[in-house]
Amino acid sequence: MTQIKMPNYDIVIHDHNLLELSKHIKSIYRYDELFVVTDQKVYALYHQEMVEALASFHVSYVVVPEGESSKSLDTYQKVVDTLIEKGIKRNHLMIALGGGVIGDLTGFVAATLFRGIPYIQIPTTLLAMVDSSIGGKVGIDLKQGKNLLGSFYQPKLVFIDTSFLKTLPQREYNNGLAEMIKAGLIGDKKLYQYLLEHDTVTIKEIEQSIHVKREVVLIDPYDYKERMLLNFGHTFGHAIEKKHCYETYKHGEAISYGMLIALQLGMTLGKTDPNLYDEVKSLFLKRGLVQEPLLEMEDYKSEIIHDKKFLADGLNFIIVHKPGFPEIIKLKAMDLL
Ligand SMILES: NC(=O)c1ccc[n+]([C@@H]2O[C@H](COP(=O)([O-])OP(=O)(O)OC[C@H]3O[C@@H](n4cnc5c(N)ncnc54)[C@H](O)[C@@H]3O)[C@@H](O)[C@H]2O)c1
Repeated sequence: MTQIKMPNYDIVIHDHNLLELSKHIKSIYRYDELFVVTDQKVYALYHQEMVEALASFHVSYVVVPEGESSKSLDTYQKVVDTLIEKGIKRNHLMIALGGGVIGDLTGFVAATLFRGIPYIQIPTTLLAMVDSSIGGKVGIDLKQGKNLLGSFYQPKLVFIDTSFLKTLPQREYNNGLAEMIKAGLIGDKKLYQYLLEHDTVTIKEIEQSIHVKREVVLIDPYDYKERMLLNFGHTFGHAIEKKHCYETYKHGEAISYGMLIALQLGMTLGKTDPNLYDEVKSLFLKRGLVQEPLLEMEDYKSEIIHDKKFLADGLNFIIVHKPGFPEIIKLKAMDLL
């Protein structure tokens, strides 16, 4: 087991050891009732294993449909209704069991119901293990846009077990790899080097990736400055996702195109090593994260310029000189023209 300390909680990483879960829960919680929120797919795959892992607790399940559409006000209301119906009290413990959708939704319910209920994250996708379960951002989507209703709310524990990855479809696995490659590019040259040469990861790389996020989140917990580094590839990535109505491309795929566009822009500004662009491009092609012909910056400029983050004095934009050496630059509208 590996343990990473956050200011008010631990992230524990196990390799195929789900039976350790109840021990960790008992170290932070003294009651018997647990309220697990999960999606239909994860419930079907892991209900039996959870029954065994949580045999010493009385567990209530709230199961929502899988996919981004569950990060909605409608599902939020249904989850709250079911939890109240099942008798949840404000000192009970909630568990988010699933990918980033479940983590964000459950965290937001936990942050708001009765003005805050303790909760833990059990991420079951690679993306959730290395990214969405870390850092305390929780929230849901509104019809006006993604993640518009949310909060910062830290879990009491993040319990990662790599056994969940055995059922993850390849495309979802690669989706998580994209965020790990991003972490390597902005903050860990060795992680990047490993990911160039391997198509699967172990606890060690998951830990390295979490450390990159941990460092920036600790300096800037509420996303005012340094945390922006995590947005490498995301400015164009979000524009791509938005233009295609969040359907055609997975998040990891959209940000992979976005990272290539950001590297290209860095080259134009004379900051990014041109060899890095070629290397990252062939890595993304090999992992099926992008396809040729690549998406072009040209087609997404208007989404970027009209983005609410594009302020009068420009847009904060992340470029990477070489792996481990990112820089926040101010991008003017004319830089894009
Ligand atoms: N809070 C944050 O800091 C943060 C960071 C990045 C992304 N996010 C959010 O995360 C969400 C995306 O997360 P995601 O990519 O994990 O998507 P997801 O939660 O929709 O999971 C992807 C799919 O994998 C399935 N799945 C989950 N675990 C599985 C397993 N072990 N085996 C087989 N199938 C499994 C799910 O049912 C779903 O169909 C987005 O809503 C995004 O906004 C949040």
